[in-house]
Amino acid sequence: MSEAERFSVPRWQSGQPAELRVLDVDVEGPVLSDEARRVAERIASKYPTRRSAMIPLLYLVQAEVGWVPRRGMREVADVLGLTTAEVEAVATFYTMLKLHPCGRYIVSICTNPSCALLGARRLYERARELLGESAERVSEDGLFTLEEEECLAACDQAPVVAVNFLFYDRVSEEQLESMIEEIRQGRPPAASRGGIPGELKDISRVLAGLGTDRAAEVEDG
Ligand code: FES
Repeated sequence: MSEAERFSVPRWQSGQPAELRVLDVDVEGPVLSDEARRVAERIASKYPTRRSAMIPLLYLVQAEVGWVPRRGMREVADVLGLTTAEVEAVATFYTMLKLHPCGRYIVSICTNPSCALLGARRLYERARELLGESAERVSEDGLFTLEEEECLAACDQAPVVAVNFLFYDRVSEEQLESMIEEIRQGRPPAASRGGIPGELKDISRVLAGLGTDRAAEVEDG
């Protein structure tokens, strides 16, 4: 066995391959508007230590752009008085922060052992057939990003699929097909444990600790 083969990690063991998670792409120009900067300051002021606001501010960037470009990490570092390397170290660790352009709905299929034993690999391949290969970055209609996910800690409900971080339990191929169709029609189905997934920007705003009402945020600030 060659050195390269010895150290290559089979895709099914690695979840989302690094080359799909991190791309050498960025955006030009500021990503946080003056309004978003005011919101960022308001978020940061809620914490006794400004660095503790790092993850909410990264979600704020994701809410503004739809993903987290390096330019956004630099701006978060600037707001918090940190180095860009400190922010990058956090942003590259958390997989809910997306480091490349994404569709409006992230379809994450767990392919770890419990789910794999109950057909997750076939689900993933079926999703890829339905959404097209480009969906592993962004589907041609801009609606979907398809990704393999590591264990979602819901193994007793395998196979598990998440759409914008809300879980669907014991998903069959037929259910997957109808979920995708309903999202295409603008009616995402209710998740198994409640909630209807919003678009990635809206969900990211909530994860930043904000509501979805931008006007109220500015007034609140
Ligand atoms: S293996 Fe899929 S949720 Fe744990």
